[in-house]
Amino acid sequence: MRDIVKRKVTKAIFPVAGLGTRFLPATKSIPKEIMTLVDRPLIQYAIDEARAAGIKEFIFVTAKGKSALEDYFDSAPELEKTLRKKGKTDLLRELRATDMDSGAIAYIRQREALGLGHAVWCARRLISNEPFAVILPDDVIAAEKPCLQQMVEQYAETGGNMVAATKVAPEEVSAYGILSVTGSKDKLLTVDDMAEKPSVEDAPSRHAAIGRYILEPAIMNRLKDLKQGSGDEVQLTDAIAQEARNGGKVYGYCFEGQRYDCGSKAGYLKATVAFALARDDLKDELTDFLKQLRFS
Ligand code: G1P
Repeated sequence: MRDIVKRKVTKAIFPVAGLGTRFLPATKSIPKEIMTLVDRPLIQYAIDEARAAGIKEFIFVTAKGKSALEDYFDSAPELEKTLRKKGKTDLLRELRATDMDSGAIAYIRQREALGLGHAVWCARRLISNEPFAVILPDDVIAAEKPCLQQMVEQYAETGGNMVAATKVAPEEVSAYGILSVTGSKDKLLTVDDMAEKPSVEDAPSRHAAIGRYILEPAIMNRLKDLKQGSGDEVQLTDAIAQEARNGGKVYGYCFEGQRYDCGSKAGYLKATVAFALARDDLKDELTDFLKQLRFS
């Protein structure tokens, strides 16, 4: 019989405690999530995607040195006043679109950098017994329908634990959580195991997990007892793998859209160029410049 339980996801965890070492020295004083694609910080893209998917509670797992990130979500009355006085209504509108309701964001501190799984577990008390999303702001996904929204719609149908998935080249599998897949239907992959950053020889497939997850509360219990795994860190992948091996439903979701790995310099630059070329106010000048570079 068809399961008619309504499955609504209203909470999302944003693990933002990482040191951002790949972007030093900039990240000495700027959290990497504040770095911009054109003029919007990476975290704004993540928040916008979560809102589009119906998320109401935004849980940031932060660490020391991330206060600029918290400040970003404060209201800016002085700035608004100045813009109003100068009649800069467009800018004012843009600024207002970044406003968050009072109480919508919670900040949880991760005291030690023990890995993604540990960061997610730090939010356990705010999640309690509900399904939740996890968004890694490093992974920026340009899509007509935002990726998490695609997943939330699928989740309403199927439930289970869902990981955004994309195929990667063999030489890239060692940078991702890789899915062991037993079957597929439309955009859904049935997953019976996962491996975090396996060697190409050991990788169970080329389907990689991308930074969007919808997880059931059982994952928090798995995280509680997990030992450190790959890279000496507590891995979210290991908790999901354990759930799959023990008969829990785990799916890979082959989303539609273009994903940019903004955790790497090349990926970040590609995203910057792509997002700028998509903007009416920048595309002509930038296209001319890129042509000049190519032929000089
Ligand atoms: C994390 C996860 C990994 C996933 C990746 C997606 O790794 O641990 O399973 O495939 O994000 O971007 P990280 O890139 O933080 O090392």
